[in-house]
Amino acid sequence: MSYPNYKPGLDGVIASITSISYLDTDIEQIVVRGYDLIELIQKTSYIKVAYLLIYNKLPSDAEAAAFERKLMEQADIPEDMYKMFSLMPKTMSGMDSLRTGISFLAGYEKDEYLMDTSVESNEEKALKILAQAPTIAVNSYRAIQGQPFVKPDKSLGYSENFIYMIKGSKPSEVETDTLDKILTAYIEHEMPNSTFTVRVVASTLSDIYGAIASAVASLKGPLHGGANEAAMKMFLEVMELGGPSKAESYIMDKLNRKDKIMGFGHRVYMKKYDPRAYLLKDYIPKLAHLKPDGKDLAEIYTIIANVMEREKGLFPNADYPIALLYYLIDVPIDLYTPIFLCSRTAGLVAHHIEQHANNRLFRPRVIYEGARGLHP
Ligand SMILES: CC(C)(COP(=O)(O)OP(=O)(O)OC[C@H]1O[C@@H](n2cnc3c(N)ncnc32)[C@H](O)[C@@H]1OP(=O)(O)O)[C@@H](O)C(=O)NCCC(=O)NCCS
Repeated sequence: MSYPNYKPGLDGVIASITSISYLDTDIEQIVVRGYDLIELIQKTSYIKVAYLLIYNKLPSDAEAAAFERKLMEQADIPEDMYKMFSLMPKTMSGMDSLRTGISFLAGYEKDEYLMDTSVESNEEKALKILAQAPTIAVNSYRAIQGQPFVKPDKSLGYSENFIYMIKGSKPSEVETDTLDKILTAYIEHEMPNSTFTVRVVASTLSDIYGAIASAVASLKGPLHGGANEAAMKMFLEVMELGGPSKAESYIMDKLNRKDKIMGFGHRVYMKKYDPRAYLLKDYIPKLAHLKPDGKDLAEIYTIIANVMEREKGLFPNADYPIALLYYLIDVPIDLYTPIFLCSRTAGLVAHHIEQHANNRLFRPRVIYEGARGLHP
């Protein structure tokens, strides 16, 4: 039975009025606070776009530097959190430990302040989450892997410190720049499931930590942020089968089985190129030399993209090139989606603040197809 007012998955339904971002598919532009995200990736930095999202103004170099210092000053987490990470089950995934860490952070706020929905209070808490999310993501992962903690180095910039904590040693300029580009590409994207989740939770006047923790659960799913990890596992599977010469048959087998190919397709751009993927694909051949299998992986990347376009008319989304870029700068696969969440935190907190500034509770209805008139 079909219902004219019912859109499965809320496909095309308008959920909010926002001045944060918009996917203008007519001109293939991701508009962020009035700017084209692709230009922001090319010409600015993660810190500048995070500032833009939170304060609705592209900062000067001095404002960006002060903002970055403010974040770095509060980048470390309470000592008890490191102890808590050591107690986490060794089977825990990076997204689950990140979600737990963000919930734990909420416990350090006094209840009245935690539940304060004013812009000022939300902004302060937002900065704390933005500053500490990388420390939580990396160090909870390290504890699970039995690796020593690497506390943030406050003398470094945001992206440099992030990759430093991941690697445990000073990163190269190429690694820092590549991570910064990935973080900027992931920073905000209109109304994906995790952003909607934040707005739904915020609309009950719940706190920002709970809203971001809920977004972590949403982003974990392979139809959303988890696609980057799944795409990388696919590249490595093709390598194990024999490399580029096996890529086409591998994908054809999957398509014949009606499997979804991770890193392709998108609810909004379904038959168009995701502009982020279009930009980032060009970095892959430039960075392929960083790993011994980089050239083969770059070839597999192109073969799979060509087969998907030919067979399904589908194009890569951002997760497809980003998976390979992470790999080329040596980021462990279990951290791919947690890093995505850390980046997206800037966009998510902006949505939380905007929702609280002009709130109406989300409470939709259903079409009931169950029984009626029963009696116990
Ligand atoms: C993103 C995604 C969930 C959007 O899904 P959606 O809007 O609900 O669209 P559907 O899943 O209904 O797909 C529509 C059609 O395209 C096909 N399709 C969509 N994405 C596909 C993919 N990645 N691989 C193979 N086929 C795909 C579906 O099989 C379906 O075909 P059909 O009409 O012949 O059955 C979907 O494209 C997907 O699962 N992609 C892989 C996961 C991913 O990369 N997620 C990150 C998104 S940024």
